[in-house]
Amino acid sequence: MSILIKNGRVITASDDYVADIFVEGETISAIGKNISNDADTIIDAAGKFVFPGGIDPHVHLDMPFMGTFSSDNYETGTLAALHGGTTMVIDFILQTQGKSLHNALREWQGRSNGNCYGDYSFHMAVTDFNDDTKKEIKEMVEEEGIVSFKTFMAYKGALMIDDRQMVGLMNEVKLQGGIVTVHATNGDMIDFLIAKHRSEGKLSPLYHYLSQPEITEAEATGRFADMANYTGVPAYVVHMTCEGALNHIRDVEKRNQKVFAETCIQYLILDASLYEKDFDGAKWVMSPPLRQKKDQETLWAGINQGTVQVVATDHCPFTWEKKLLGEKDFSKIPNGHPAIENRMELLFNEGVNTGRISLNKYVEVTSTNAAKIFGMFPKKGCIAVGSDADIIIFDPNKEHTISAKTHHMNVDYSAYEGWKLKGKVEKTILRGQLAIDNGDVKIKKGYGVFVKRKKVSGII
Ligand code: URP
Ligand code: ZN
Ligand code: ZN
Repeated sequence: MSILIKNGRVITASDDYVADIFVEGETISAIGKNISNDADTIIDAAGKFVFPGGIDPHVHLDMPFMGTFSSDNYETGTLAALHGGTTMVIDFILQTQGKSLHNALREWQGRSNGNCYGDYSFHMAVTDFNDDTKKEIKEMVEEEGIVSFKTFMAYKGALMIDDRQMVGLMNEVKLQGGIVTVHATNGDMIDFLIAKHRSEGKLSPLYHYLSQPEITEAEATGRFADMANYTGVPAYVVHMTCEGALNHIRDVEKRNQKVFAETCIQYLILDASLYEKDFDGAKWVMSPPLRQKKDQETLWAGINQGTVQVVATDHCPFTWEKKLLGEKDFSKIPNGHPAIENRMELLFNEGVNTGRISLNKYVEVTSTNAAKIFGMFPKKGCIAVGSDADIIIFDPNKEHTISAKTHHMNVDYSAYEGWKLKGKVEKTILRGQLAIDNGDVKIKKGYGVFVKRKKVSGII
């Protein structure tokens, strides 16, 4: 099978030029001018952008959480991702406290194997670090190609680890060539505030927001960065939302430490005023919560200054029926919102069309940096000879409106209902196969494969 993409405007993290791209089998075999028309499929990309397939390194598919499961499974979630131009996701395995990492790996493989449309990998969330878990870190890195280890500084009793476990894990992950990632919020402070609000009868979604003030995130981010500095482990903060947290990252750069930071599309474009809509605010109940306009500005600046490297989604959808579990008590609303399908088009509209970020920066934060940080570059995250042919053809002039009626995610509302966007994914190519063509699905479930990753350096 071969595909020739003709005359597209090829955008990478560093380049911008018009060329033809020749794809043979699963990889890109040539890039140049006037490549011969001898291909099984010819795509005319004149007037279109040709981007590397998006990589979303923060999604939760079919995940057991807060007494239910996130509503997109591996089939619906990776297919929705492809519709929106994301060719690869990194999902999270959650260790059950008291059980092994391998036990959790088998459970997640059972749900994902053979069910994905798009490519995928796993971060391993270590929720119980002990002598047995320690031995498993090397096996995860060397045998399973899982090099990133997620930690939670919140969700006590289920996912949270204490600082002693954190430092122990960091030491071991450093030794084995991996990276430690973190949900950085102070779980004890948050639990105190949740209990306080509940005892005062303050039970609406607004109190989810008021139970996680900026300081809870800033404090934990600084503490995590200090422990990472002490141990020397490569480190990455997921779903950063606010100025206080980002300032800690800026501070550690003064001592020549690099801590990677990820924000998510919602924190750049939505704000906490949405929690004032009574129970409708449950659509945006996520942790950390949406913040203020000043935080959005800080995050956009962080992207341009290179202190924020990745824009992900933290896609963790729940149907409205599940959100209603918390109708009488905000602390029972399943945390998370749907965005896996919308990220690339929302960021293009809100970032590129507004002039906030360049086209190269767009590619960096939606694809290339995640591939570099998480040990997949240059197989993934770029348009280059020898790389996987994960490519999107993007029409910058196509206008469309987001709606739950037309999206492909398995959730009955949209967090962006009615948003009008300019710029749409026209075709998605995954490892040399045209996967989505103007909304039509051209591949079968199971085409997506698990991607084993390489050891990382913490430098990109
Ligand atoms: O609200 C969120 N973020 N749900 C998913 C779990 C997590 O903390 O990332
Ligand atoms: Zn989190
Ligand atoms: Zn998450």
